[in-house]
Amino acid sequence: MIVVSGIQPTGNLHLGNYLGAIRNWVKMQNDMGNDDRCLFFLADLHAISQPHDPAQLKANTLEMAAALVACGLDPARCVLFNQAQVPAHAELQWLLMGTARMGWLNRMTQWKDKAGKNREGQSVALFGYPVLQAADVLLYQATHVPVGEDQKQHLELARDIAQKFNNDFASEDQPVFTLPEPFIPPAAARIMSLRDGSKKMSKSDSSDMSRIALTDDADTMAQKVKKAKTDPEPLPGDVEGLAGRPEALNLVTIYAALAQTTPEAVLAQHGGQGFGQFKPVLAEKMVEVLGPIRDRFVELRQDREELDAILARGASRARDLASHTLDHAYSALGL
Ligand code: ADP
Ligand code: NA
Repeated sequence: MIVVSGIQPTGNLHLGNYLGAIRNWVKMQNDMGNDDRCLFFLADLHAISQPHDPAQLKANTLEMAAALVACGLDPARCVLFNQAQVPAHAELQWLLMGTARMGWLNRMTQWKDKAGKNREGQSVALFGYPVLQAADVLLYQATHVPVGEDQKQHLELARDIAQKFNNDFASEDQPVFTLPEPFIPPAAARIMSLRDGSKKMSKSDSSDMSRIALTDDADTMAQKVKKAKTDPEPLPGDVEGLAGRPEALNLVTIYAALAQTTPEAVLAQHGGQGFGQFKPVLAEKMVEVLGPIRDRFVELRQDREELDAILARGASRARDLASHTLDHAYSALGL
């Protein structure tokens, strides 16, 4: 089993990113165990398909790398790198461009959504980036690719490209590419804003109080939890009792996710408590879980040398792993 997963480099990371995304990758790494079986890359090449600020992209890539390591990705146990340092991604994309059909890409719903009515004004990269995504996973003979609902169609496309390439250019007993299977990760917690239970916790919310940042210190976390919007009722004894109480549900969900338990179990223990009692308990749990991550994150984020070294090491391993498939693809094409 080989798992390959890409991550958009984003900045202003928060509790929702950790519980909803990053922690899953750490679990995946821990479940897979072995070297070179788990590859995680920062999708910086994808980022240029839309208008972007180069300095911001660089900062976000480094910030995401620091967060992943602080949260528990171990560069000695998984291959952690950014695409731009592994030219094989861009090279294989070009080789696959000869196989991908215009009609296939035209059908991608994400392209239709993102381009909207202004197709003529979009970059060629936005149209072609599902081919880069195919290259990202086919390069490493990935057997499994974690995908959310919105990425299933792109993985199907990767399989179609791999299959057509194998059919057109490889002998049956020596296919160039493995057809990757989708792997649907267990549903992650969806964390809502601390100020409005109907909105997702997000980096783009204008209120700082709406999210717990990965950089918040213990006092700041406690303050934000204390000020979090709630209702005057005590916590119910079961989850049904949270119906119509989105803010209460959110705090219980956060506690459960941090404690790696279920909302049912949290309510079995804390049902009947008012928020004056429950919020300090929640803040304490938050500091216990996020405190060490925060410290490591803040330290690493400032250590450019260490981050560069981690990414350079990962890229060098990724280049080695990719070279076999890339060579095979070139020669299959007569290049
Ligand atoms: P934001 O919504 O803050 O802009 P992104 O869209 O950059 O965050 O998401 C990065 C990753 O974090 C994605 O995998 C996304 O599903 C996850 N994520 C973001 N916000 C939340 C949230 N509030 N709850 C759970 N997961 C989240
Ligand atoms: Na977003």
